[in-house]
Amino acid sequence: MLDAMANDGWSVTPDFVSLADSLRLQVECQVSFERGEFHRAGVGKGESFSVRDELRRDHVMWMVDSGSSPEQKLWMKKLEMLRVALNQQFFLGLFAYDGHFAIYPQGGFYQAHLDRHAGTNDRIVTVILYLNDDWQSGDGGELKLWTTVGEKTGAFQLIEPRMGTMVCFFAGDYWHEVLPANKPRMSITGWFRQS
Ligand code: OGA
Ligand code: MN
Repeated sequence: MLDAMANDGWSVTPDFVSLADSLRLQVECQVSFERGEFHRAGVGKGESFSVRDELRRDHVMWMVDSGSSPEQKLWMKKLEMLRVALNQQFFLGLFAYDGHFAIYPQGGFYQAHLDRHAGTNDRIVTVILYLNDDWQSGDGGELKLWTTVGEKTGAFQLIEPRMGTMVCFFAGDYWHEVLPANKPRMSITGWFRQS
């Protein structure tokens, strides 16, 4: 994974989280959603925040600090190992993490974007963990990641959101979008920050 980040700036790691642990995170995601603990995701930050149906259709629940459940703590522990490893390898000075569970309802998508708010550069590395067991080709919901830095054209990868797969990339470098999902799609998305 670190080699891929060094060579390509992005990486896909199947089975980064075991099936048993992914299932526990998936159940937590589902149960919290049913309890009404999610809200519609928006775009922008502070006063420019707005919910924009034409841009993204996911629902999110932010995680707090070191995780508020055993399942979240487990994920946070893995993220902490990853943070230290990325800092050792790339001298990034990553020190904080913000992340949320996300659910895309059937038909949900997220138009092409970069993971930085206008005028900011604190998000350095994006980390996504997929929580969909039995995801089949044809279910849609692929992450389309353009692999040329700063470009929204040319070569791209289509990554299926399969259970336990982790995707990592430099947040300011790669345009990406979530293609329409034909069934509900779950994940945890977050960012390591420098400040
Ligand atoms: C995001 C995002 C991609 C995915 O939440 O910013 O791009 O595959 N998610 O869930
Ligand atoms: Mn994104």
